[in-house]
Amino acid sequence: MQIQNATALVTGANRGIGYAFVNALLQAGAQKVYTTARDINTLKDVTVLDTSRVIPLQLDVTDSCLINTLPAQSPDVNLLINNAGILAFGSILDVPMEVIASQFNTNFYGSLNVARALVPVIEQNNGGAIVNLLSVVSLVSMPALAAYNASKAAAWSMTQSLRASVAEKRIMVHAVFPGPVDTDMAAGIEFSKTSPADVAVAVLAGIEAGHEDIFPDPMSAQFYAAWRQDHKAIEKQFAAGSSDDV
Ligand SMILES: NC(=O)c1ccc[n+]([C@@H]2O[C@H](COP(=O)([O-])OP(=O)(O)OC[C@H]3O[C@@H](n4cnc5c(N)ncnc54)[C@H](OP(=O)(O)O)[C@@H]3O)[C@@H](O)[C@H]2O)c1
Repeated sequence: MQIQNATALVTGANRGIGYAFVNALLQAGAQKVYTTARDINTLKDVTVLDTSRVIPLQLDVTDSCLINTLPAQSPDVNLLINNAGILAFGSILDVPMEVIASQFNTNFYGSLNVARALVPVIEQNNGGAIVNLLSVVSLVSMPALAAYNASKAAAWSMTQSLRASVAEKRIMVHAVFPGPVDTDMAAGIEFSKTSPADVAVAVLAGIEAGHEDIFPDPMSAQFYAAWRQDHKAIEKQFAAGSSDDV
């Protein structure tokens, strides 16, 4: 699909990659961008980007009551960007079960429930696209991020099922697998990072090019090439705590 004249809805739009998506969508000529955040007051800096095209909405992706209001509040959406996410550190033997549950509630159920709410809307608007922000750890686990890995791997599985289920509705589902991006989420991660602005622009280019799976930065592109060549070698490398040489 083309971004020009699209009507997008971005979750977690108040900061990080979500904010960069809003900026990139506006630059690329989107007609309207519904920017959503848990606390609507945090969207002030986003709204000023273009007060006529940016529509702020309150949305916690773990709140089904708020999700149920989306079709009425954004009836013209044809591009959903499921960006909201959280990351917890911890190994698989130690990370508390409630932390695992909260990673799944946001990263898996949150994206799924927002997609379920908006598929009928996008279908009614003659089709469009859903973009799920995954991660390279959807494909290979980093043991220090055990709960996050699992939630993002589940979200990748969900993305593939969703893709097959909405294909006949003329809705394309894109999976995005970034490497480290320079946002609050990656503040404690010691890898070289790509700017959120570059990631957002690369994802929009991937949508326009019709790429189902998007590796939007140099690390993730390199990772994907190496993973296709020898996924066991990458698993061992990540298990040893390094993604530097992919
Ligand atoms: N940064 C990276 O290195 C990296 C790499 C791969 C993939 N990703 C993925 O990219 C996406 C964006 O990450 P980021 O780096 O921009 O993270 P970030 O800077 O930490 O921002 C996360 C965003 O998600 C929102 N959010 C969290 N829980 C939410 C909920 N329950 N309902 C609604 N919004 C919620 C946050 O809102 P609040 O301000 O209210 O907390 C914030 O807007 C995530 O899905 C992440 O997993 C990031």
